[in-house]
Amino acid sequence: MLRMDKSSRIYVAGHRGLVGSAICRRLQSGGYTRLIIRDRADLDLTNQAAVEAFFRAEKPEYVFLAAAKVGGILANSTYPADFLRDNLAIELNVIDAAYRAGVKKLEFLGSSCIYPRLAPQPMREEALLSGPLEPTNEWYAIAKIAGIKLAQAYWRQYGFRAISLMPTNLYGPGDNFDFESSHVLPALIRKAHQARIEQAPEMVVWGSGAARREFLFVDDLADAAVFLMLHYDEPEIINVGAGTDVTIRELAELVQRVIGYQGRLAFDASKPDGPPRKLLDGSRLQAMGWHASTGLEQGIAETYDWFLAHARQAPHAIATSHPCA
Ligand SMILES: NC(=O)c1ccc[n+]([C@@H]2O[C@H](COP(=O)([O-])OP(=O)(O)OC[C@H]3O[C@@H](n4cnc5c(N)ncnc54)[C@H](OP(=O)(O)O)[C@@H]3O)[C@@H](O)[C@H]2O)c1
Repeated sequence: MLRMDKSSRIYVAGHRGLVGSAICRRLQSGGYTRLIIRDRADLDLTNQAAVEAFFRAEKPEYVFLAAAKVGGILANSTYPADFLRDNLAIELNVIDAAYRAGVKKLEFLGSSCIYPRLAPQPMREEALLSGPLEPTNEWYAIAKIAGIKLAQAYWRQYGFRAISLMPTNLYGPGDNFDFESSHVLPALIRKAHQARIEQAPEMVVWGSGAARREFLFVDDLADAAVFLMLHYDEPEIINVGAGTDVTIRELAELVQRVIGYQGRLAFDASKPDGPPRKLLDGSRLQAMGWHASTGLEQGIAETYDWFLAHARQAPHAIATSHPCA
């Protein structure tokens, strides 16, 4: 069986993003020397002809597909057509061009939002397509499910080795700290940072604080991504989780401690909690011998260090200023 090695030609699509930049870091620190990357300005992955020409010219052997149009509830509900079209186009163009160019193996990054809204917790891989999706991000989820099915169909019909992994909520260096569009953890870090600087008596946290969520440090995800590229050869999707979850209250207290904010936490229960629990069942990956190694407190501290190093920039620049090479 062919396996990625240190001299393989490896294309990381989405290398400036949270996930893609972490995969690049992991590959570089692991001694993989022949990384191929392209900024979006030079290669728009929604452009089929450009993607085909790129694959023909560069002939990558392994592909990490971490490029996607990503956004929160507001962005999803405001731009449903863009989310569906761009993500379908990126997946179709990259998977098809990779197959035609003779790529040895491709890894597609999905997301836990592919699972039904009421999937039993923790969510197993078998929950895919077993019930209705969460309506707030169904455009994105449908595109991701199409990407999974495309990878499986190319494997079945053409024998193209395309694996798909489903990470839980991620955080880490390169995260998006923009209040308008960020996820809960970077939003809490930024809020606590501001509250500390302004010596605010209290910091408001959305929701009751009772909802339980799982968070995986993005460098752990990158480690799993490389591990799976090396050791996983099945078309079935595989979850990548942290293995444990916390309440939003516990998370806020942890963030408070790391940042050194002494004020009171005020939970605004008029804001929605979302589902009471979202946790992936990561037992398939654990059975292969992989476990996350970064504790939540350590991960938050590293993310805060990165935030401080980039805090002078505007939030948008913070969100996008982390190229891997
Ligand atoms: N973040 C999470 O919590 C999380 C959790 C589970 C799964 N995932 C999955 O991981 C993948 C990456 O997510 P992320 O958080 O790293 O997102 P991200 O930070 O927004 O990065 C996405 C990357 O895709 C690139 N991209 C988007 N459209 C493109 C286009 N048309 N042509 C070329 N490049 C394009 C972006 O380029 P620019 O830099 O030019 O914008 C960016 O580098 C997604 O599939 C997502 O579903 C993420």
